[in-house]
Amino acid sequence: MSKIVVVTSGKGGVGKTTTSANIATGIALTGKKTIAIDFDVGLRNLDLIMGVERRVIYDLVNVIKGEAKLQQAIIRDKHIENLYMLPASQTRDKDALDPEGIARVLEDLKQMGFEYIICDSPAGIEKGAQMAMYFADEAIVVTNPEVSSVRDSDRVLGLLAAKTSRAEQGGDPIKTHLLLTRYSPAQVARGEMLSVGDVLEILGIPFLGVIPESKAVLQASNKGAPVILDELTEVAQAYRDVVYRFLGEERPHRFIEQEKRGFLKRIFG
Ligand SMILES: Nc1ncnc2c1ncn2[C@@H]1O[C@H](COP(=O)(O)OP(=O)(O)OP(=O)(O)O)[C@@H](O)[C@H]1O
Ligand SMILES: [Mg+2]
Repeated sequence: MSKIVVVTSGKGGVGKTTTSANIATGIALTGKKTIAIDFDVGLRNLDLIMGVERRVIYDLVNVIKGEAKLQQAIIRDKHIENLYMLPASQTRDKDALDPEGIARVLEDLKQMGFEYIICDSPAGIEKGAQMAMYFADEAIVVTNPEVSSVRDSDRVLGLLAAKTSRAEQGGDPIKTHLLLTRYSPAQVARGEMLSVGDVLEILGIPFLGVIPESKAVLQASNKGAPVILDELTEVAQAYRDVVYRFLGEERPHRFIEQEKRGFLKRIFG
């Protein structure tokens, strides 16, 4: 059985690509054959975050246009078994993606035995984002704890319910999950950010968890190794929890409340 999962948000720069790379890596680490596809034609950077940019030769658009075989475009991770990626093209126009072509690629990936197909959506709610979500079985809606991001996520939920293959064919609706990224408990406590409760109340979809704001994310993407591999960091632990919850395990939520400062920390800062 393969599952197609879109990582989407509406608003740009909220952490979709970071999340796609980390969730694909985390799922592959549990032994499931997983591929991450970059749908961000023109602005590709999933290959960079996954540390394979120097190995990109062919891309999704080449495959759709019949200029390369799928096997030629897929890049296998050198360090993590079961992990693969399919890059986006850097130069072509966004109209290069069409539903028939995407359907063929996804069907071939299923035939190749991929259990999880993670689709990294471009920002916005226009064609590119709609192509990324069109064939999804499940959606991870990445949201930052601020009003504009929540509003855009709400619009994306509308699209997921109306403008996808499942919606048009009257099948089961796409299963949606909320992931709150770049979350800072200290800022929530100061009233500068929306809390988990606020966001859940507005969006009303099942909650995968929070990913804390962390400098480790940028450091990891500069290294080309998803931060989930940086096991000692909170953000890696948060992504691991999220992967297990996504796969159906119960995990207590962490990193939501501000850590109580101990006696020594209060005195010495
Ligand atoms: N948890 C985090 N803590 C700190 N910085 C983060 C976190 N998640 C993402 N970022 C940073 O935010 C920026 C945007 O992240 P990313 O590229 O994953 O977002 P995106 O939603 O894919 O953006 P776009 O809409 O442009 O595709 C990057 O610089 C990334 O390093
Ligand atoms: Mg992105």
